[in-house]
Amino acid sequence: MLTTSRGWRREGHTIGLVPTMGALHAGHMSLVERACRENSRVVVSIFVNPIQFGPKEDLDRYPTSPERDLGLLQQAGVGALYMPTAKVMYPPQATTRIKVFGVGETIEGAARPGHFEGVATVVAKLFNATEPDRAYFGQKDAQQVAVVKRLALDLDTGVQICVGRTVREPDGLALSSRNAYLTPQERQSASCLSFALERAARAYKAGERDFKELKRGIQEVLQAEPLAKVDYLDLVDPDTFTPPGSLAVMAVWIGKTRLIDNHDLATPFSG
Ligand code: PAJ
Repeated sequence: MLTTSRGWRREGHTIGLVPTMGALHAGHMSLVERACRENSRVVVSIFVNPIQFGPKEDLDRYPTSPERDLGLLQQAGVGALYMPTAKVMYPPQATTRIKVFGVGETIEGAARPGHFEGVATVVAKLFNATEPDRAYFGQKDAQQVAVVKRLALDLDTGVQICVGRTVREPDGLALSSRNAYLTPQERQSASCLSFALERAARAYKAGERDFKELKRGIQEVLQAEPLAKVDYLDLVDPDTFTPPGSLAVMAVWIGKTRLIDNHDLATPFSG
């Protein structure tokens, strides 16, 4: 455990942890601000976790902005920033991995083999390093939330998992560090993800309950966008991530950038 956390715990503080990979935006900061309201001390981790990236993924070009991040966190009143190197996190002799079966294997887990194993392993290590009372994750990565909730219970961590709503741009695009890869034209096209979700939520509200029909409506919007190529699209149960269910999940390529988004159609869409 980090000495900072140990000292805080001894002094009777509650500790909130916000795990991130940096390049902080308003989505990250909404989690940080909530953690600051709900805990007397907050740790933010910044670590671009190599083992959650596949061999052909964007690890090498993942955006970083450490100085800007530090300024934002200081301003928000964060007490500690944990920024380990990859060598500290994974010394050469380390061979342990954590695998969350079931919810970690479907949808995004199937599209990105090894991804959730990497996430689960690093999150467990971050919990051990900081021993938080609460840890904060965004609904933007809905399946990650489900995986982390399972892991927190199954490994008896005692950490309360808190979920923050998805922060979006004015046109609905979910904030993501990967949005920085988009050209201006791609950026315009990228609003098709949230537009499709919003339309499906409206159809659901109007009484449509046929998941096939709802899925078809989403597909129609995405297919109408020439720069978009659907990786997956499904309506799943929000806890198990198996179909059918009211949670619409999608991964869509916009040019060379893969974006994910989701929305529980049984809830109003707030863009
Ligand atoms: P990262 O992509 O940096 O995201 C850090 C946290 O911010 C995650 O919980 C994510 O869901 C949340 N987040 C991202 N975009 C958001 C948005 N638009 N609105 C609300 N929350 C948003 O997710 C990871 O890092 C990593 O997998 C990590 C958990 C740190 C493990 O390596």
